[in-house]
Amino acid sequence: MKKIILIGIFSLLPIVVFNSCNTSTSQTLAVKTADEDSYITIDTSKIPNDKFGESVRYGKELMLKTAYYIGPNGINGKYLGNKMNCTNCHQNAGTKPFSLNLMSSHDNYPQYRGRENKVLTLAERINNCIMRPHSGKPLPLDGKEMVAFLSYFKWISTFVPKDGQFKGAKNMEISFPDVAASSERGKTLFTENCARCHGNNGEGLYNTDKSGYTYPPLWGKYAYQPGSSMHRIIKQAQWLKGNMPYDKVAIGKPHLTDAQALDIAAYVNDDAIHTRPNPKTFDYPNEMSKPIDYAHGPFGDTFSEEQHKYGPYKPIIAYWKKNNLKAVY
Ligand code: HEC
Ligand code: HEC
Repeated sequence: MKKIILIGIFSLLPIVVFNSCNTSTSQTLAVKTADEDSYITIDTSKIPNDKFGESVRYGKELMLKTAYYIGPNGINGKYLGNKMNCTNCHQNAGTKPFSLNLMSSHDNYPQYRGRENKVLTLAERINNCIMRPHSGKPLPLDGKEMVAFLSYFKWISTFVPKDGQFKGAKNMEISFPDVAASSERGKTLFTENCARCHGNNGEGLYNTDKSGYTYPPLWGKYAYQPGSSMHRIIKQAQWLKGNMPYDKVAIGKPHLTDAQALDIAAYVNDDAIHTRPNPKTFDYPNEMSKPIDYAHGPFGDTFSEEQHKYGPYKPIIAYWKKNNLKAVY
């Protein structure tokens, strides 16, 4: 089990390839089942053997072993404030379906971001993840590491179909119950489904040389910050549905119900009972562009911080619709 997690899916997850064009050197990143053979296959043997390819390979390494290279004791620079790796959330180095997939990111930027109320480049967007989930300081925009991330994202984007549509590009959708998500119900579900790996105190488990985690932390001072999107309950529930519990979810085959995923996300992100690193990274100067589950006011509507955080979300969505606005989440 540990080995699979450390080395990553690039080589070890069960590989079932239905595409007869694949040569023996190809590695598939998505597990295919007979009824779902439309996940994209990434063939890492096609990374070119030149200077650009070198940068792509380093970018892939940085996704998988971020803390080893640029963590608090990083061998190539000390940028991150914690030892999480990008792949802990963007699994399989950003290529796993339904796991905050990054294969279109190269094509998606520059992009207007409501959070900063300006157009960001992909490099600036990468630095947001360095700063928030990783509590780090931004990478120099023209440094070797940033160029490697950008090279890697460009390379994986070449596998995306021209129309940009592919299965698992976005996280799984959640349908909302009528009741608010409950941290109390979530606690029981967490004990049953999550604590065996992430620990009862959400502290996770370091790998043997402590260069990163076998099971990353969910709260506490080494976990993601409250300003991070993982801290939003809908956003996290969508991700949990497609990815956790790690040992029970096959791609596209959730283990948790939507309501359970919301309750667990409510418990994980309940800061009344859990601590987190807490620099004030709240922004969104344009309140009308806030996602509805971003629980820090002021809001462009009349709902409380509590309801934005835990729901029920349906009345918020209906309110926005009535005012001819689209609720973002
Ligand atoms: C704790 C989880 C977490 C970690 C760790 C993390 N991210 Fe993210 N990242 C997210 C979430 C959540 C989003 C999506 C935010 C949204 O949908 O608005 C995101 C979005 C992104 C995006 C924008 C994608 C797009 O196409 O718009 C990029 C690029 C990105 N992350 C890169 C990285 C890199 C590189 C690292 C490692 C240095 C990293 N992330 C680490 C959670 C994480
Ligand atoms: C069998 C072990 C296992 C179980 C059970 C499990 N996880 Fe995970 N979890 C992992 C691993 C491993 C990763 C990192 C994935 C990677 O790097 O590819 C992870 C990553 C995460 C992350 C993103 C990274 C972070 O630390 O913020 C969250 C959030 C998370 N798990 C929540 C949960 C929740 C909630 C449950 C219960 C529903 C759960 N996990 C059950 C092993 C597990």
